[in-house]
Amino acid sequence: MGALELTTAQRKETVRKLLEEYHVPSQEIEESLRLIEEIAELKAQKNAIALGHNYMTPDVFYGVSDYTGDSLELSRIAAQAKANILLFNGVHFMAETAKILSPEKKVLIADLDAGCSLAESITADDVRKLREQYPGIPIVSYINCSAEVKAEVDVICTSSNAVRIVESLPSDTVVLIPDVYLAGNVQKKTQKKIIPWHGKCMVHELYSVVDVHITRRYFPEATILAHPECKKEVAALVDFVGSTSQMIQYLKEHKPKQALLLTECSMTSNLRKEIPEVQFISMCQNCPHMKKITLRKIRDTLLYEKNEVDVSEPTRSRARKALERMLELSR
Ligand code: 13P
Ligand code: SF4
Repeated sequence: MGALELTTAQRKETVRKLLEEYHVPSQEIEESLRLIEEIAELKAQKNAIALGHNYMTPDVFYGVSDYTGDSLELSRIAAQAKANILLFNGVHFMAETAKILSPEKKVLIADLDAGCSLAESITADDVRKLREQYPGIPIVSYINCSAEVKAEVDVICTSSNAVRIVESLPSDTVVLIPDVYLAGNVQKKTQKKIIPWHGKCMVHELYSVVDVHITRRYFPEATILAHPECKKEVAALVDFVGSTSQMIQYLKEHKPKQALLLTECSMTSNLRKEIPEVQFISMCQNCPHMKKITLRKIRDTLLYEKNEVDVSEPTRSRARKALERMLELSR
C-alpha cells in the first residue's frame, strides 16, 4: 500500500465512518478520535513515523500509520526511513527487523508481548543443529523469526518472495524454516527439494478445505484468496495465493464482485474502505498478537518512549546480512 498521506482531520473522519459502520459505541469512537489526535501531535513533536502492517485494526491502520504494507514492504521502508523514532505497529519480529535495518533509530512497539507462533517455533540452537544435519545445504528463513534465528541463516524470505529467493540459491536442496505450510506451498512451485521445519501460523492453520467448499457452494461468484501460510490443500483450491499486499494488489486489479480472504480479519475490514466496489465475505480469524496493538498503548508508548526494541551485536550484524541478501535478491 505504501505511504498513507492523510491529514489528521481526514484520518479521524475515515476512522469515525468505519467505526460507525461497525456499530462501535459512540463513547469509544470519541475516545479513539482523541487518541488519534494525541498520537499525531506526539509524532510531530518527536519526529516519529509509524509503520503499520496490513493486519492492524482500522483505527490503527487509518488513524495513525504513515506507511502500510506487508513484511517485505515495511522492511524496505524501515531501511530507508528518515525519522528519530520508528513506531512499529505490527508484531515483535517486525519491529526487530526494523531495528536490525535501522540501528541508529529508536524503534518502539506498543506491546513487547505481541509475538508470533511461527517465530516461537524455532530457536537459534535449532538452526545450528539443522546446519549439522544438512551440511552445505543453504538455510532460508521466513522473516517471521527472531533476530537470533536470522543471524544463523543464509538468507531471509517473506511470503511475497519465497519462491524467488529459493530459486536464486545455487543448490538443488534448500532448508526452508520455520513454516511447514509456506514450505509446502513453495515446494509446489519449484523443482528444488525443500526441507521444512514444523512451525505453523496459529491463525492461517485454522482454515480448512471445508471453508473453501462451503464458500463455493453458498457464494459461487466469490473470488477466494489465501495467504501462503495456509495449508497447501487449501491453497490448491483458491483463486489466488499471495502475501497480504499481493492479495490487495490482486483485488485492486481484478475488482471481483465478491471476495473471501483466508487471512487475518482486520485486512478485510481495512479493504472494505479501500476497495468499496468489492463485497467482502467475513469468515476470518483474528491474530491475538496483532490485536495487542491498540491506540491507547501506542499513545503511551510514544509519550513515554517505552517498549524500545533493541538487538545487540554481533547478532544484529549477522541478521542484517541475511536480510540485506533478501533485499538484494528481491529488487
Ligand atoms: P505478509 O508479509 O504477507 O504481510 O505476512 C506477514 C504475516 O505475519 C502473515 O501472517
Ligand atoms: Fe504470526 Fe500468524 Fe500472527 Fe502473522 S498471523 S503474526 S504469522 S501468528
